[in-house]
Amino acid sequence: MSAFPEGFLWGGATAANQLEGGYQEGGRGLSIADALPGGKDRFKIVAQPDFDWTIDEDKYTYPNHMGIDFYHHYKEDIALFAEMGFKCYRFSIAWSRVYPNGDETQPNEAGLKFYDAVIDECLAHHIEPVITISHYELPLNLATKYGGWKNRYLIEFYENFARTILTRYADKVKYWMTFNEINSAAHFPVMGQGLVPSTGANDKRNVFQAWHNQFVASAKAVKIAHNLKKGLRVGCMILYATSYSYDANPKNQLANLQENQELNFFCSDVQVRGEYPAYTKRLLAKYGLTFDDLETNDGELALLKQYPVDYIGFSYYMSSAVETTGQVKDTVNGNLMGGVKNPFLAASDWGWQIDPTGLRIALNQLYDRYQKPLFVVENGFGAIDKPDKNFYVEDDYRIDYLKQHIQAMAGAIADGVDLMGYTPWGCIDLVSASTGEMSKRYGFIYVDLDDEGQGTLKRYRKKSFYWYKDVIENNGLEK
Ligand code: BG6
Repeated sequence: MSAFPEGFLWGGATAANQLEGGYQEGGRGLSIADALPGGKDRFKIVAQPDFDWTIDEDKYTYPNHMGIDFYHHYKEDIALFAEMGFKCYRFSIAWSRVYPNGDETQPNEAGLKFYDAVIDECLAHHIEPVITISHYELPLNLATKYGGWKNRYLIEFYENFARTILTRYADKVKYWMTFNEINSAAHFPVMGQGLVPSTGANDKRNVFQAWHNQFVASAKAVKIAHNLKKGLRVGCMILYATSYSYDANPKNQLANLQENQELNFFCSDVQVRGEYPAYTKRLLAKYGLTFDDLETNDGELALLKQYPVDYIGFSYYMSSAVETTGQVKDTVNGNLMGGVKNPFLAASDWGWQIDPTGLRIALNQLYDRYQKPLFVVENGFGAIDKPDKNFYVEDDYRIDYLKQHIQAMAGAIADGVDLMGYTPWGCIDLVSASTGEMSKRYGFIYVDLDDEGQGTLKRYRKKSFYWYKDVIENNGLEK
């Protein structure tokens, strides 16, 4: 008997800005992702004090402009997902396709038509769409004119956007998530909050204000969905990296507890429980702030309480270790976070510490804390694939990574965790978020495109494609 419940949502995940391309087609406006240069220095460039979102094509490449051209290949791509037997497909709706500048009152019908087609294509293949309302793709105008999410006008703009798509797709799409990796701003607020140093990214007051505005916007989306149709389910989405104390030193244990609160739990505590956790006080004090420094009001706090999310979506790639006494010098880096090296774990080419057991721990920690259904909406192995002359990739390393994480999920289900589904990240190769590279690949499907934007854009099934097809067919690793 399978460890996974009947109806388990096996699928894959992507984000509009990383795969669609067509960045100026169908009346789409620019998004912040369009202004992020490609390459390993992406985050260094946007962390410069004078970075102001100017697109300078003489100086940089902009791989998100083309993505993998899903805009013109979506039928072929969804057919490939269907061939693997996907039960669901997690993707995002580009805000700037629907509201090109973010602050219009009327949506762009051509943009919506594209999503009508994508959703209908999924449904025709019996694939359940799972939609992220905002995945690192704020309309650029909301970053340049309004200064990103620290500005309270964005609550209203997001509400309009969310109402438009929730209303239009209420009868077709059941599962939604409000903000991708909302807590990632604790590491780097550019992608999630549209904040750069010149608009106050280095001032934690702005980061907390932006979060508050997003919490309110998220609660409004839950309210809209619940009022629209019974059965619509709206989740939060957090970046979860299981965090360990490096050793039994109580100082490290305490530091780990506090780091867990700050980096993993803060946002979901508000979005799931509907109120700010008690440790908010300590957290704000750490940055010289009190709750009174934030602009909030009773009506908003009541809204948070009334409209918590229905489930917890999270990404899981790696774990981290906390050491505060300075005895450990070896460090590692993930895409958004780093830390000391864990001697028990190996790391990927990009320094991510691979830790399937950490996923079982994460699932237990989250379920113990919230007792609401969980959904692993990102997990995967970014690697350099080497296709043979027929463009076939023998990606045993990826199969191995995913297999171990699926085993960990089975373990957590046996522990009693309520897990809804699994959508590995970048089920088709796409542009990396942190480095803008194509060469860091996650997919079951190889896309012939390189870091310089050269290639035929043809799609090829990797070895993992056939392996994952079997997993889905068996509802897990064994029948
Ligand atoms: C998550 C994001 O942080 O990790 C995705 O939600 C991202 O957008 C994924 O692509 C993998 O990170 P990267 O930097 O390797 O693309």
